[in-house]
Amino acid sequence: MNVLIVGSGGREYAIGRALKADKKCEKIYFASGNGASEKLGENVAIKDFEELADFAIKNDVKLTIVGGEEPLTKGIVDIFRAKNLTIFGPAKNAARLEGSKAFMKNFLNKYHIPTARYIETDNLNEAKKFIDTLKEPIVVKADGLCAGKGVIIAQNRQEAFNAAKDMLSGVSFAQAGERIVIEEFLEGFELSVFAISDGKDFIVLPVCQDHKRLLTGDRGPNTGGMGAYARTPLASQELTDKIAARIIKPTIEAMNAENSPFTGVLFCGIMVVDGEPYTLEFNVRFGDPECEALTALLVSSPIDLFYAAAKGDLSGAKATFSDKSAVGVVVASQNYPYKPSDPKPITVEQNAQNENAYVIYAGVTKGENGELLASGGRVLVAMGLGDTIKAARQNAYDLIGKIRFEGMQFRTDIAYQALQ
Ligand code: AMP
Ligand code: GLY
Repeated sequence: MNVLIVGSGGREYAIGRALKADKKCEKIYFASGNGASEKLGENVAIKDFEELADFAIKNDVKLTIVGGEEPLTKGIVDIFRAKNLTIFGPAKNAARLEGSKAFMKNFLNKYHIPTARYIETDNLNEAKKFIDTLKEPIVVKADGLCAGKGVIIAQNRQEAFNAAKDMLSGVSFAQAGERIVIEEFLEGFELSVFAISDGKDFIVLPVCQDHKRLLTGDRGPNTGGMGAYARTPLASQELTDKIAARIIKPTIEAMNAENSPFTGVLFCGIMVVDGEPYTLEFNVRFGDPECEALTALLVSSPIDLFYAAAKGDLSGAKATFSDKSAVGVVVASQNYPYKPSDPKPITVEQNAQNENAYVIYAGVTKGENGELLASGGRVLVAMGLGDTIKAARQNAYDLIGKIRFEGMQFRTDIAYQALQ
Protein backbone atom coordinates (compact mmCIF):
# COMPACT_ATOMS: atom_id res chain seq x y z
CA MET A 1 0.00 0.00 0.00
CA ASN A 2 1.01 3.64 -0.44
CA VAL A 3 1.67 5.51 2.78
CA LEU A 4 1.98 9.21 3.59
CA ILE A 5 4.09 10.35 6.56
CA VAL A 6 3.48 13.90 7.81
CA GLY A 7 6.57 15.55 9.26
CA SER A 8 10.25 16.09 8.54
CA GLY A 9 12.27 15.05 11.58
CA GLY A 10 14.11 11.99 12.79
CA ARG A 11 10.89 10.47 14.09
CA GLU A 12 9.30 10.57 10.64
CA TYR A 13 12.48 9.29 8.97
CA ALA A 14 12.57 6.37 11.45
CA ILE A 15 8.92 5.52 10.74
CA GLY A 16 9.67 5.66 7.02
CA ARG A 17 12.68 3.39 7.44
CA ALA A 18 10.59 0.84 9.34
CA LEU A 19 7.78 1.00 6.76
CA LYS A 20 10.20 0.53 3.90
CA ALA A 21 11.20 -2.84 5.36
CA ASP A 22 7.53 -3.87 5.54
CA LYS A 23 6.47 -6.19 2.70
CA LYS A 24 3.08 -4.46 2.53
CA CYS A 25 4.61 -1.06 1.79
CA GLU A 26 4.68 0.05 -1.82
CA LYS A 27 5.41 3.77 -1.96
CA ILE A 28 6.15 6.26 0.81
CA TYR A 29 5.40 9.98 0.56
CA PHE A 30 6.75 12.47 3.10
CA ALA A 31 5.11 15.84 3.68
CA SER A 32 7.49 17.45 3.70
CA GLY A 33 10.36 15.12 4.67
CA ASN A 34 14.03 16.13 4.86
CA GLY A 35 17.16 16.02 2.72
CA ALA A 36 17.64 12.30 3.36
CA SER A 37 14.06 10.99 3.29
CA GLU A 38 14.11 11.05 -0.51
CA LYS A 39 16.16 7.87 -0.25
CA LEU A 40 13.15 6.20 1.36
CA GLY A 41 10.34 7.78 -0.63
CA GLU A 42 9.17 10.99 -2.24
CA ASN A 43 9.06 14.38 -0.57
CA VAL A 44 5.90 16.40 -1.15
CA ALA A 45 5.90 20.15 -0.47
CA ILE A 46 2.21 20.54 0.45
CA LYS A 47 1.41 22.26 3.75
CA ASP A 48 -2.33 22.86 3.53
CA PHE A 49 -4.25 19.90 5.04
CA GLU A 50 -7.13 19.99 2.53
CA GLU A 51 -4.66 19.98 -0.35
CA LEU A 52 -2.66 17.21 1.27
CA ALA A 53 -5.79 15.09 1.69
CA ASP A 54 -6.60 15.60 -2.00
CA PHE A 55 -3.04 14.56 -2.84
CA ALA A 56 -3.54 11.39 -0.76
CA ILE A 57 -6.73 10.55 -2.65
CA LYS A 58 -5.11 11.17 -6.02
CA ASN A 59 -2.08 9.03 -5.21
CA ASP A 60 -4.00 6.13 -3.74
CA VAL A 61 -2.58 6.63 -0.23
CA LYS A 62 -4.25 4.04 2.01
CA LEU A 63 -2.66 5.12 5.30
CA THR A 64 -1.41 8.47 6.58
CA ILE A 65 0.75 8.63 9.71
CA VAL A 66 1.15 11.97 11.47
CA GLY A 67 4.45 12.49 13.29
CA GLY A 68 4.14 15.73 15.24
CA GLU A 69 1.67 17.47 17.53
CA GLU A 70 1.19 20.64 15.53
CA PRO A 71 -0.86 19.20 12.65
CA LEU A 72 -2.78 17.04 15.16
CA THR A 73 -3.79 19.94 17.39
CA LYS A 74 -4.76 21.88 14.25
CA GLY A 75 -7.13 19.12 13.14
CA ILE A 76 -5.42 17.30 10.26
CA VAL A 77 -7.08 14.04 11.32
CA ASP A 78 -10.58 15.53 11.17
CA ILE A 79 -9.95 16.87 7.67
CA PHE A 80 -8.59 13.53 6.36
CA ARG A 81 -11.41 11.54 7.97
CA ALA A 82 -14.03 13.82 6.46
CA LYS A 83 -12.65 12.71 3.08
CA ASN A 84 -12.84 9.04 4.09
CA LEU A 85 -9.08 8.67 4.40
CA THR A 86 -7.45 6.37 6.96
CA ILE A 87 -5.11 8.35 9.21
CA PHE A 88 -3.13 7.37 12.31
CA GLY A 89 -3.40 10.01 15.03
CA PRO A 90 -6.03 11.59 17.31
CA ALA A 91 -8.72 14.01 16.16
CA LYS A 92 -8.43 17.65 17.22
CA ASN A 93 -10.64 17.17 20.27
CA ALA A 94 -8.51 14.33 21.60
CA ALA A 95 -5.26 16.15 20.76
CA ARG A 96 -6.17 18.66 23.51
CA LEU A 97 -4.45 16.21 25.89
CA GLU A 98 -1.23 17.74 24.58
CA GLY A 99 -2.44 21.05 23.18
CA SER A 100 -3.61 22.40 26.54
CA LYS A 101 -1.90 21.65 29.85
CA ALA A 102 -4.91 23.07 31.70
CA PHE A 103 -7.25 20.68 29.88
CA MET A 104 -4.89 17.78 30.59
CA LYS A 105 -4.53 18.56 34.31
CA ASN A 106 -8.29 19.06 34.78
CA PHE A 107 -8.90 15.79 32.95
CA LEU A 108 -6.45 13.91 35.19
CA ASN A 109 -8.01 15.46 38.28
CA LYS A 110 -11.57 14.62 37.20
CA TYR A 111 -10.72 10.95 36.64
CA HIS A 112 -8.41 10.54 39.66
CA ILE A 113 -5.39 9.76 37.51
CA PRO A 114 -2.19 10.36 39.52
CA THR A 115 -0.39 13.64 38.78
CA ALA A 116 1.34 16.45 40.69
CA ARG A 117 -0.88 18.69 42.86
CA TYR A 118 -1.64 21.89 40.90
CA ILE A 119 -3.84 24.83 40.08
CA GLU A 120 -4.58 26.28 36.66
CA THR A 121 -5.34 29.95 36.49
CA ASP A 122 -5.13 33.18 34.51
CA ASN A 123 -4.97 35.27 37.67
CA LEU A 124 -1.67 36.34 39.23
CA ASN A 125 -3.08 36.75 42.77
CA GLU A 126 -4.45 33.24 42.69
CA ALA A 127 -1.09 32.03 41.36
CA LYS A 128 0.75 33.76 44.21
CA LYS A 129 -1.55 32.28 46.86
CA PHE A 130 -0.91 28.76 45.58
CA ILE A 131 2.83 29.32 45.16
CA ASP A 132 2.97 30.32 48.84
CA THR A 133 1.55 26.93 49.84
CA LEU A 134 4.16 24.88 47.90
CA LYS A 135 7.57 23.59 48.90
CA GLU A 136 10.47 24.78 46.69
CA PRO A 137 11.35 24.12 43.87
CA ILE A 138 8.07 24.94 42.10
CA VAL A 139 6.97 24.12 38.57
CA VAL A 140 5.27 26.77 36.38
CA LYS A 141 3.87 25.79 32.97
CA ALA A 142 2.35 27.74 30.09
CA ASP A 143 -0.97 26.25 29.03
CA GLY A 144 -0.38 26.10 25.27
CA LEU A 145 2.16 24.50 22.95
CA CYS A 146 5.66 26.00 23.35
CA ALA A 147 7.81 23.41 21.56
CA GLY A 148 8.94 21.92 24.86
CA LYS A 149 10.07 25.25 26.33
CA GLY A 150 6.98 26.23 28.33
CA VAL A 151 8.00 24.58 31.61
CA ILE A 152 9.94 26.52 34.24
CA ILE A 153 11.38 24.75 37.27
CA ALA A 154 11.67 27.68 39.68
CA GLN A 155 14.19 27.22 42.47
CA ASN A 156 12.27 29.45 44.89
CA ARG A 157 8.91 31.20 45.36
CA GLN A 158 10.09 34.54 44.02
CA GLU A 159 11.35 32.91 40.82
CA ALA A 160 8.05 31.04 40.48
CA PHE A 161 6.09 34.27 40.95
CA ASN A 162 8.22 36.04 38.31
CA ALA A 163 7.75 33.18 35.85
CA ALA A 164 3.98 33.24 36.42
CA LYS A 165 3.92 37.01 35.96
CA ASP A 166 5.92 36.91 32.71
CA MET A 167 3.67 34.20 31.30
CA LEU A 168 0.37 35.83 32.27
CA SER A 169 1.43 39.25 30.97
CA GLY A 170 2.43 37.73 27.62
CA VAL A 171 6.14 38.59 28.02
CA SER A 172 7.09 34.93 27.62
CA PHE A 173 5.22 32.54 25.31
CA ALA A 174 2.62 35.13 24.15
CA GLN A 175 -0.85 33.54 23.85
CA ALA A 176 0.32 30.12 25.03
CA GLY A 177 0.90 31.67 28.47
CA GLU A 178 -2.50 33.33 28.92
CA ARG A 179 -3.40 30.50 31.25
CA ILE A 180 -0.83 28.73 33.39
CA VAL A 181 -0.48 25.63 35.49
CA ILE A 182 1.45 25.76 38.76
CA GLU A 183 2.35 22.47 40.35
CA GLU A 184 4.40 20.78 43.00
CA PHE A 185 7.83 19.47 42.03
CA LEU A 186 8.07 15.69 41.87
CA GLU A 187 11.41 14.10 42.62
CA GLY A 188 12.15 10.76 41.00
CA PHE A 189 13.12 9.31 37.64
CA GLU A 190 11.34 9.83 34.32
CA LEU A 191 10.01 7.33 31.82
CA SER A 192 8.44 7.69 28.38
CA VAL A 193 5.60 5.20 28.04
CA PHE A 194 3.74 4.77 24.74
CA ALA A 195 0.42 3.08 24.05
CA ILE A 196 -1.07 2.55 20.60
CA SER A 197 -4.85 2.88 20.82
CA ASP A 198 -7.81 2.37 18.51
CA GLY A 199 -10.01 4.47 20.80
CA LYS A 200 -11.08 1.57 23.05
CA ASP A 201 -8.22 -0.91 23.37
CA PHE A 202 -4.52 -0.27 23.60
CA ILE A 203 -1.12 -1.95 23.34
CA VAL A 204 1.72 -0.74 25.59
CA LEU A 205 5.11 -0.53 23.83
CA PRO A 206 8.52 -1.22 25.43
CA VAL A 207 9.29 1.49 27.97
CA CYS A 208 11.84 4.15 26.96
CA GLN A 209 13.90 6.78 28.68
CA ASP A 210 14.70 10.13 27.08
CA HIS A 211 17.44 12.62 28.03
CA LYS A 212 15.99 16.10 27.84
CA ARG A 213 18.91 18.20 29.02
CA LEU A 214 21.51 19.33 26.50
CA LEU A 215 24.67 18.29 28.29
CA THR A 216 26.23 15.14 29.68
CA GLY A 217 25.34 14.69 33.35
CA ASP A 218 21.83 16.14 32.87
CA ARG A 219 23.12 19.70 32.84
CA GLY A 220 22.26 22.65 30.58
CA PRO A 221 18.93 23.71 29.10
CA ASN A 222 16.00 21.47 28.21
CA THR A 223 15.88 20.29 24.60
CA GLY A 224 13.53 18.17 22.51
CA GLY A 225 15.59 15.17 23.68
CA MET A 226 19.28 14.33 23.24
CA GLY A 227 19.01 10.55 23.21
CA ALA A 228 16.72 7.69 24.12
CA TYR A 229 16.89 3.99 24.68
CA ALA A 230 14.55 1.03 25.05
CA ARG A 231 13.77 -1.06 26.85
CA THR A 232 14.72 0.36 30.19
CA PRO A 233 15.38 -1.91 33.18
CA LEU A 234 14.03 0.93 35.37
CA ALA A 235 10.51 -0.11 34.37
CA SER A 236 9.79 -3.51 35.90
CA GLN A 237 6.76 -5.45 34.69
CA GLU A 238 5.02 -4.51 37.93
CA LEU A 239 5.64 -0.80 37.40
CA THR A 240 4.61 -1.02 33.73
CA ASP A 241 1.38 -2.75 34.77
CA LYS A 242 0.68 0.00 37.30
CA ILE A 243 1.17 2.67 34.61
CA ALA A 244 -1.20 0.79 32.28
CA ALA A 245 -3.85 0.26 34.98
CA ARG A 246 -3.73 3.63 36.71
CA ILE A 247 -2.89 6.00 33.87
CA ILE A 248 -3.34 4.59 30.35
CA LYS A 249 -6.52 2.55 30.80
CA PRO A 250 -8.53 5.23 32.63
CA THR A 251 -7.35 7.84 30.11
CA ILE A 252 -8.45 5.83 27.07
CA GLU A 253 -11.77 4.97 28.77
CA ALA A 254 -12.47 8.53 29.89
CA MET A 255 -11.65 10.03 26.49
CA ASN A 256 -14.09 7.56 25.00
CA ALA A 257 -16.74 8.44 27.59
CA GLU A 258 -16.24 12.12 26.75
CA ASN A 259 -16.86 11.46 23.07
CA SER A 260 -13.24 12.17 22.15
CA PRO A 261 -11.96 8.63 21.55
CA PHE A 262 -8.18 8.63 21.39
CA THR A 263 -6.77 6.88 18.34
CA GLY A 264 -3.08 6.97 17.58
CA VAL A 265 -0.21 6.83 20.02
CA LEU A 266 -0.54 8.20 23.54
CA PHE A 267 2.78 9.28 25.01
CA CYS A 268 2.74 9.38 28.81
CA GLY A 269 5.55 11.36 30.40
CA ILE A 270 5.86 9.64 33.77
CA MET A 271 7.72 10.54 36.95
CA VAL A 272 8.28 7.59 39.26
CA VAL A 273 8.40 8.69 42.90
CA ASP A 274 9.15 5.94 45.45
CA GLY A 275 7.93 3.28 43.03
CA GLU A 276 4.66 5.07 42.24
CA PRO A 277 3.98 6.55 38.77
CA TYR A 278 2.68 10.12 38.29
CA THR A 279 1.64 11.70 34.99
CA LEU A 280 3.84 14.68 34.13
CA GLU A 281 2.34 15.23 30.71
CA PHE A 282 0.61 13.60 27.80
CA ASN A 283 1.71 13.93 24.22
CA VAL A 284 -0.51 12.74 21.43
CA ARG A 285 2.25 11.38 19.18
CA PHE A 286 5.50 9.45 19.32
CA GLY A 287 8.41 11.02 21.16
CA ASP A 288 11.46 12.06 19.23
CA PRO A 289 14.02 10.37 19.73
CA GLU A 290 12.01 7.65 21.53
CA CYS A 291 10.36 6.68 18.24
CA GLU A 292 13.75 5.93 16.73
CA ALA A 293 14.49 3.41 19.50
CA LEU A 294 11.03 1.80 19.30
CA THR A 295 10.97 1.41 15.52
CA ALA A 296 14.46 -0.12 15.75
CA LEU A 297 13.04 -2.92 17.90
CA LEU A 298 9.68 -3.48 16.18
CA VAL A 299 9.71 -6.79 14.30
CA SER A 300 6.03 -7.25 13.43
CA SER A 301 4.49 -5.24 10.57
CA PRO A 302 4.31 -1.53 11.36
CA ILE A 303 1.72 -1.06 8.62
CA ASP A 304 -0.63 -3.65 10.16
CA LEU A 305 -0.31 -2.01 13.57
CA PHE A 306 -0.83 1.60 12.51
CA TYR A 307 -3.56 0.67 10.05
CA ALA A 308 -5.52 -1.37 12.63
CA ALA A 309 -5.38 1.48 15.16
CA ALA A 310 -6.36 4.06 12.56
CA LYS A 311 -9.29 1.88 11.46
CA GLY A 312 -10.50 1.65 15.08
CA ASP A 313 -9.96 -2.07 15.62
CA LEU A 314 -6.79 -3.32 17.27
CA SER A 315 -8.30 -6.69 18.16
CA GLY A 316 -6.43 -8.66 15.47
CA ALA A 317 -3.24 -6.57 15.59
CA LYS A 318 0.03 -7.42 17.23
CA ALA A 319 3.15 -5.52 18.15
CA THR A 320 6.16 -7.79 18.51
CA PHE A 321 9.48 -6.36 19.58
CA SER A 322 12.97 -7.81 19.41
CA ASP A 323 14.64 -8.82 22.70
CA LYS A 324 17.57 -6.60 21.80
CA SER A 325 18.19 -3.15 23.21
CA ALA A 326 18.28 0.04 21.15
CA VAL A 327 20.17 3.21 22.04
CA GLY A 328 19.82 6.39 19.98
CA VAL A 329 22.25 9.26 20.49
CA VAL A 330 21.25 12.61 19.04
CA VAL A 331 23.94 14.58 17.24
CA ALA A 332 22.98 18.25 17.17
CA SER A 333 24.36 21.31 15.44
CA GLN A 334 26.69 23.76 17.14
CA ASN A 335 24.18 26.35 18.38
CA TYR A 336 21.34 24.01 19.37
CA PRO A 337 19.05 24.76 21.17
CA TYR A 338 19.83 28.49 21.33
CA LYS A 339 19.83 29.61 17.70
CA PRO A 340 20.15 28.22 14.17
CA SER A 341 23.60 27.16 12.89
CA ASP A 342 25.02 27.61 9.39
CA PRO A 343 24.61 24.52 7.17
CA LYS A 344 27.65 22.21 7.22
CA PRO A 345 28.42 19.18 5.06
CA ILE A 346 28.07 15.79 6.76
CA THR A 347 30.32 12.83 6.04
CA VAL A 348 29.68 9.27 7.18
CA GLU A 349 32.55 6.82 6.64
CA GLN A 350 31.90 4.10 4.13
CA ASN A 351 30.84 0.78 5.66
CA ALA A 352 30.11 2.53 8.96
CA GLN A 353 26.51 1.34 8.93
CA ASN A 354 25.05 -2.11 9.39
CA GLU A 355 21.92 -3.63 10.94
CA ASN A 356 23.21 -2.84 14.45
CA ALA A 357 24.47 0.67 13.73
CA TYR A 358 22.77 3.12 11.41
CA VAL A 359 21.94 6.77 10.98
CA ILE A 360 18.48 8.29 11.31
CA TYR A 361 18.46 11.68 9.61
CA ALA A 362 16.57 14.65 11.07
CA GLY A 363 17.69 18.26 10.49
CA VAL A 364 19.34 17.76 7.10
CA THR A 365 18.94 19.34 3.68
CA LYS A 366 20.47 18.66 0.29
CA GLY A 367 23.23 20.95 -0.95
CA GLU A 368 23.65 22.17 -4.55
CA ASN A 369 25.64 19.12 -5.55
CA GLY A 370 23.40 16.64 -3.79
CA GLU A 371 25.60 16.52 -0.68
CA LEU A 372 23.92 16.18 2.70
CA LEU A 373 24.05 19.28 4.92
CA ALA A 374 23.50 19.55 8.66
CA SER A 375 20.94 22.36 8.72
CA GLY A 376 18.64 21.87 11.68
CA GLY A 377 18.99 21.77 15.45
CA ARG A 378 18.94 18.04 15.99
CA VAL A 379 20.75 16.83 12.88
CA LEU A 380 20.73 13.04 13.18
CA VAL A 381 20.42 10.14 15.57
CA ALA A 382 23.13 7.49 15.73
CA MET A 383 21.25 4.25 16.42
CA GLY A 384 22.91 1.28 18.03
CA LEU A 385 21.39 -2.13 18.63
CA GLY A 386 22.82 -4.93 20.74
CA ASP A 387 22.05 -7.84 23.02
CA THR A 388 22.53 -5.56 26.01
CA ILE A 389 22.11 -1.83 26.53
CA LYS A 390 25.86 -1.59 26.97
CA ALA A 391 26.53 -3.24 23.61
CA ALA A 392 23.86 -1.15 21.87
CA ARG A 393 25.32 2.02 23.31
CA GLN A 394 28.82 1.04 22.21
CA ASN A 395 27.53 0.55 18.66
CA ALA A 396 25.89 3.98 18.70
CA TYR A 397 29.03 5.74 19.95
CA ASP A 398 31.31 3.79 17.57
CA LEU A 399 29.08 5.00 14.75
CA ILE A 400 29.35 8.61 15.92
CA GLY A 401 33.12 8.21 15.68
CA LYS A 402 32.63 7.68 11.94
CA ILE A 403 30.41 10.72 11.40
CA ARG A 404 31.72 14.22 10.93
CA PHE A 405 30.35 17.72 10.53
CA GLU A 406 31.62 21.00 11.87
CA GLY A 407 30.25 21.94 15.29
CA MET A 408 28.62 18.55 16.00
CA GLN A 409 27.63 18.08 19.65
CA PHE A 410 26.23 15.10 21.52
CA ARG A 411 25.94 13.73 25.04
CA THR A 412 28.37 10.99 26.02
CA ASP A 413 26.19 9.38 28.68
CA ILE A 414 22.96 8.27 26.98
CA ALA A 415 21.35 5.38 28.92
CA TYR A 416 23.50 6.03 32.00
CA GLN A 417 20.63 5.38 34.39
CA ALA A 418 20.28 1.87 32.98
CA LEU A 419 23.97 1.13 33.44
CA GLN A 420 24.45 2.43 36.98
P1 AMP B 1 6.47 18.59 30.53
O1 AMP B 1 6.54 19.26 29.19
O2 AMP B 1 5.27 18.93 31.32
O3 AMP B 1 6.78 17.11 30.49
O4 AMP B 1 7.75 19.13 31.30
C1 AMP B 1 9.06 19.09 30.76
C2 AMP B 1 10.02 18.55 31.78
O5 AMP B 1 9.97 19.31 32.98
C3 AMP B 1 9.69 17.11 32.21
O6 AMP B 1 10.24 16.18 31.35
C4 AMP B 1 10.32 17.08 33.59
O7 AMP B 1 11.71 16.84 33.50
C5 AMP B 1 10.12 18.47 34.12
N1 AMP B 1 8.89 18.55 34.94
C6 AMP B 1 7.64 18.88 34.51
N2 AMP B 1 6.76 18.84 35.53
C7 AMP B 1 7.45 18.48 36.64
C8 AMP B 1 7.10 18.25 38.01
N3 AMP B 1 5.86 18.44 38.45
N4 AMP B 1 8.09 17.87 38.84
C9 AMP B 1 9.35 17.71 38.40
N5 AMP B 1 9.75 17.91 37.14
C10 AMP B 1 8.82 18.28 36.25
N1 GLY C 1 11.43 13.33 23.38
C1 GLY C 1 10.37 14.04 23.96
C2 GLY C 1 9.36 14.53 23.02
O1 GLY C 1 9.29 14.11 21.88
O2 GLY C 1 8.57 15.38 23.40
